[in-house]
Amino acid sequence: LALVALATSPPLLLIARAYRPRLRAQSRDVRRLESAALAVIHEVLGALRVVKVFGQEEREGDRFVRRSDEGVRGRVRLALGEGRFSVALGLLVGIGTTLVLFLGIAHVQAGTLSLGSLLLVMGYVAKLFDPMKTIGRKVATLQGYLASAERAFAVLDQEPDVDERPDAQPLERARGSITFEHVSFSYAPDRRVLHDVSFTIAAGTSVGIEGTTGAGKTTIISLLTRLYDPTEGRVLLDGVDVRDYRRADVRRQFAVVLQDSVLFSASIAENIAYAVPGASRDGIVAAARAANAHEFIERLPQGYDTEVGERGVKLSGGQRQRIALARAFLTDSPVLILDEPTSGVDAHTEAAIVEALGRLQEGRTVIIISHRPSAVARCTAMLTIERGRVVADTS
Ligand SMILES: Nc1ncnc2c1ncn2[C@@H]1O[C@H](COP(=O)(O)OP(=O)(O)O)[C@@H](O)[C@H]1O
Ligand SMILES: [Mg+2]
Repeated sequence: LALVALATSPPLLLIARAYRPRLRAQSRDVRRLESAALAVIHEVLGALRVVKVFGQEEREGDRFVRRSDEGVRGRVRLALGEGRFSVALGLLVGIGTTLVLFLGIAHVQAGTLSLGSLLLVMGYVAKLFDPMKTIGRKVATLQGYLASAERAFAVLDQEPDVDERPDAQPLERARGSITFEHVSFSYAPDRRVLHDVSFTIAAGTSVGIEGTTGAGKTTIISLLTRLYDPTEGRVLLDGVDVRDYRRADVRRQFAVVLQDSVLFSASIAENIAYAVPGASRDGIVAAARAANAHEFIERLPQGYDTEVGERGVKLSGGQRQRIALARAFLTDSPVLILDEPTSGVDAHTEAAIVEALGRLQEGRTVIIISHRPSAVARCTAMLTIERGRVVADTS
């Protein structure tokens, strides 16, 4: 009898094994579909103003419903799969129990087993199958969790766009001289964005870059900060190819202020100290003063502890730019990059930013991309980029 009862366990395990990959694949599908639906929300919240201005709320709503629908269908498929799995398990346990019962009854009738003993055996059999059923059910749930974990790890393990050489050298603090040597670059095959770009920026000088929209100015910055690597040519920092340094070390050499600075939903102080989490309050205030941000921060209800809303929407564009500038001050990197820092602000704010910039330029290499003559007035050289080529270089 014991043998019969035990004989049912290998098939039980086999069923669990057969269903495992299927359940895992379906769970994976569900996670992917649900992520897709959430991505819509994320995008829409990120660009809420754009969605609203263009009156696309309804279409975005539809897009979310469509993606969610797919997620729901995936969930139903998964539930069906899990259902079939537990039916199979239940069936097997049932057959096992029945077999033991039939054999037991035959033995009782033949007189080799007392009825009491048979009942006892049935009790044991039930005890044996219970944990097996539990294991079977856990296998199903576990597959779901494993699929979630897989997805999380996939995000964390995403390969960076640029590799680090195994023999990459460390870089403490660069002096800040920058050279582009015959650099060409394309984001997609056959669509060159930069053509044979060469220029040199001496350490401690400031260079303005001008050029129409789409000329390739931001791309130059992306290559310099190693968000991408050139298709041809080399980018040198202190005379060494940036690919020869450790990636994190290269990035640490730059402080970047973008056209529309994103703030994180945290306090103003935390936003300024973003790259230097352990910064003292004095350091933060000094940076804010230098960036002409101290006055307006002081006027806020909780001063430096004021929480900026989701993506910093509670502050004006000019205020956010000045906080970004304070962040750059505090980061204290040898190279400062400003990509159209004043294009979204009024003349008064621009004057405050430009004045702060004068202070920030002290002892640093500075690259300012701007159409505004006032923003690049202090630059020692100008670079003009048109359609991915350098057309003028006054250095
Ligand atoms: N991530 C990207 N993927 C593909 N093409 C891009 C990407 N970023 C920019 N481009 C293209 O590269 C060209 C140069 O863009 P960009 O460097 O942003 O110009 P600028 O900053 O001078 O306005 C444009 O034609 C733009 O469409
Ligand atoms: Mg740009």
